[in-house]
Amino acid sequence: MKNPFDQQSPITGVKHIIAIGSGKGGVGKSTISVNLALALKKKNNGRVGLLDADLYGPSLPRMIGCLNQKPEINSENKKVIPLKRFGIELMSMGFLVEEDLPVIWRGPMLFKAVDQFLKEVDWGELDYLVVDLPPGTGDVVLTLAQKVPLSGGIVVCTPQNIALIDAKKALNMFAHLKVPCLGVVENMSSFKIKQDEDPIDLFPKGQLDTYLKANKIKKLASIPFHPDVGLSCESGVPFLESYPDSEEGLVFLKLAEAVQSGLHI
Ligand SMILES: Nc1ncnc2c1ncn2[C@@H]1O[C@H](COP(=O)(O)OP(=O)(O)OP(=O)(O)O)[C@@H](O)[C@H]1O
Ligand SMILES: [Mg+2]
Repeated sequence: MKNPFDQQSPITGVKHIIAIGSGKGGVGKSTISVNLALALKKKNNGRVGLLDADLYGPSLPRMIGCLNQKPEINSENKKVIPLKRFGIELMSMGFLVEEDLPVIWRGPMLFKAVDQFLKEVDWGELDYLVVDLPPGTGDVVLTLAQKVPLSGGIVVCTPQNIALIDAKKALNMFAHLKVPCLGVVENMSSFKIKQDEDPIDLFPKGQLDTYLKANKIKKLASIPFHPDVGLSCESGVPFLESYPDSEEGLVFLKLAEAVQSGLHI
């Protein structure tokens, strides 16, 4: 039988492709993708791209403030030129469809769309391409892993056990697809009502740490819940851009360091 991974070929000029996934929806993948991309850029002034591979519910155009913009075509190579915001190259299905239109995909269409995003976008020279995946363990990540070699996968999880069940599925998915797992990001790990008070648990603490330890999986960062993180997603200016020196901002920068060291750079 033909090995589906035989179709893999790197994107010319792109050094590392990092996929951000989760079993569960709404845990903060897109928020973390945007801020990680910015943090990687800030850390070493690297060239960073961000691919919104959530074809069903693209949310990055809103989060990064280019909702009604359309990418142009490079007349020479006929490739789509990603939009540039905050020094990051950005491509999303959201640039090509209306925000409130449902996007209905059949397998072959989805395969083609992912392929086009990887090969028919003028990514140029990039140190990192951060890929924001849709929730779950479905077709998009399978297609992605078949098409390009992924340098690493990151799983986003909230602290409670109900989220851990789904995070395990996402971890198993990366293992199954032979994508090296860089680790888990715990999001909304705690919450401070007032800045000078002790943090409280926003969700009941589950067995995440025990599970990670037992399975030798790194916890790359614990990102607190902060209303400004949520507000930044709405405003189109990413949190790290507005609050680079905040406690949470520093956590995003540390996350970028952990990712870089996981890639052995
Ligand atoms: N650390 C945080 N503090 C405050 N709000 C947060 C934090 N992380 C995420 N959010 C908010 O939670 C909501 C869900 O986040 P996000 O869209 O990034 O999740 P997602 O995993 O990408 O969701 P989906 O599965 O639908 O793609 C958003 O409104 C976002 O602003
Ligand atoms: Mg998302």
